[in-house]
Amino acid sequence: MRRTSFGPRCLALTGAALLLAAGGTAAPAASAAAEPGPAPLGHVVPAPASVRPGGDPYEITARTVVRVPPGNREAARAGGYLAGLLRPSTGYRLPVVDSGAAGPGIRLVLDDEGAGAALGAEGYRLSVTARSVTISAREGAGLFHGVQTLRQLLPARAESTVRQPGPWTVAGGVVTDAPRYGYRGAMLDVARHFFTVDQVKRYVDQLALYKYNALHLHLSDDQGWRIAVGSWPRLAAYGGSTQVGGGPGGFYSKDDYREIVRHAASRYLTVVPEIDMPGHTNAALASYARLNCDGVARPLYTGTEVGFSSLCVAKQDTYEFAEDVIGELAVLTPGPYLHIGGDEAHSTSPADYAAFMDRVQPVVARHGKTVIGWHQLAGARPAPGALLQYWGYGRTGAAERARVAAAARAGAGLILSPADRAYLDMKYTKDTPLGLQWAGLVEVRQSYDWDPGGYLTDAPASAVAGVEAPLWTETISTSAQLEYMAFPRLAGIAELGWSPPATHDWASYRGRLAAQGPRWDALGIAYYRSPQVPWPHPSPGLRLGGKGRSRP
Ligand code: ACM
Repeated sequence: MRRTSFGPRCLALTGAALLLAAGGTAAPAASAAAEPGPAPLGHVVPAPASVRPGGDPYEITARTVVRVPPGNREAARAGGYLAGLLRPSTGYRLPVVDSGAAGPGIRLVLDDEGAGAALGAEGYRLSVTARSVTISAREGAGLFHGVQTLRQLLPARAESTVRQPGPWTVAGGVVTDAPRYGYRGAMLDVARHFFTVDQVKRYVDQLALYKYNALHLHLSDDQGWRIAVGSWPRLAAYGGSTQVGGGPGGFYSKDDYREIVRHAASRYLTVVPEIDMPGHTNAALASYARLNCDGVARPLYTGTEVGFSSLCVAKQDTYEFAEDVIGELAVLTPGPYLHIGGDEAHSTSPADYAAFMDRVQPVVARHGKTVIGWHQLAGARPAPGALLQYWGYGRTGAAERARVAAAARAGAGLILSPADRAYLDMKYTKDTPLGLQWAGLVEVRQSYDWDPGGYLTDAPASAVAGVEAPLWTETISTSAQLEYMAFPRLAGIAELGWSPPATHDWASYRGRLAAQGPRWDALGIAYYRSPQVPWPHPSPGLRLGGKGRSRP
């Protein structure tokens, strides 16, 4: 285990702004009940890059309108999303009007020439005065992220589906914000246990609150194949018919998958589909006898061992399979990435592994996509431009780390998912009723307190494309269980991916994180109430009307 040391604390760098943002030590415990005033500007997760508080607050009232530029679909969409969030709890009409940016109210402005241009593809500026809240951005994604910041600056009861008392006040000042990394992902393993389209959409909405921009779906493994492939129909129909524990499993039709992609895109997340190869393939080997070297189909598997299956590297059928599966998935996937797995291929010789990857990576490129692979791909020959997803931890050998670092120096990109930090399926404590612990126990601080930029020694910081929080589901089969493992750690990985290193500070973070608790209560998210976080006491008598969920 390694504690990263960070440079001068944020206060020295950004002064009073972050002093206010860093409410970790004082206010949050009392704020929910007593409500002394609006949340300090910047008291959100992930921490914004720059916060300049000042001036009078803005209050959303029954007369508030949301103003968007005429004829701009992206702004109208962001405005409609914001109004849709706030109408049930405030009880206000909040009409979205395309009257441009003039006039009082909440104003969404796209600006690709002036100050907006400097905000990049996902940045935004949030300016709050007594007269208006103005969110400006170069692109729709930036407006959407700005809306998430505004949402977190409102009281937690704004998340309620039942009308709540006001006031709905936002602190005055200016937030200027843009992400540290362009890739901020969360992975859901829908292979070990299947999750429905609606369950995935619910998770996407939760990811959006923390400015994630990639949803990685682990679509195939030993226990299940979860995506329809027209040219190989038994993969889903038979390979998808079970899951860990022997339940009925399931799979996404192409329309189901398109619906996930569409919903994710509406929240500015890109779907990254993964077909894990050449190991983790028992569901495929069970579905088609000809994929096996001995021509004999394997039985379906519902246990939790790893490393026992392999595609037959010597057979041409294997490459017809890879070509067809990758081709169909590429057509369905608008995003730039296709993840080909490559982890734990313990039943494939190193030479076969490299030969397989040499043949399959060009297939991905031919279908117009960029390869992502688990970091074992560094042991073969990563294609130019490939991204390696590092999932090592304290006990990962020096030689393995060095191979990944060398690949990064040679041009591979890195996605950081260290298992003892970012794996959402690791138990928090020895008493956590769900999850695994092969990488150790991962409490909230352990998950937050590291630096993706300097994590892999000898890898250039510039190779780091971003971070990802994977959630493996050997022990997880419901949304309530998923949420208990994801929250609060999901928020911390989001902050590592978004916020500048200068803002990194556990004391600040735990205070801002604590303020998320009532929000999750209102959203019906059954999170782990870590003793490391000063959660506020629920305010008596407040009926949040959350979509109630029982504890796992
Ligand atoms: C992995 O956890 N096998 C990527």
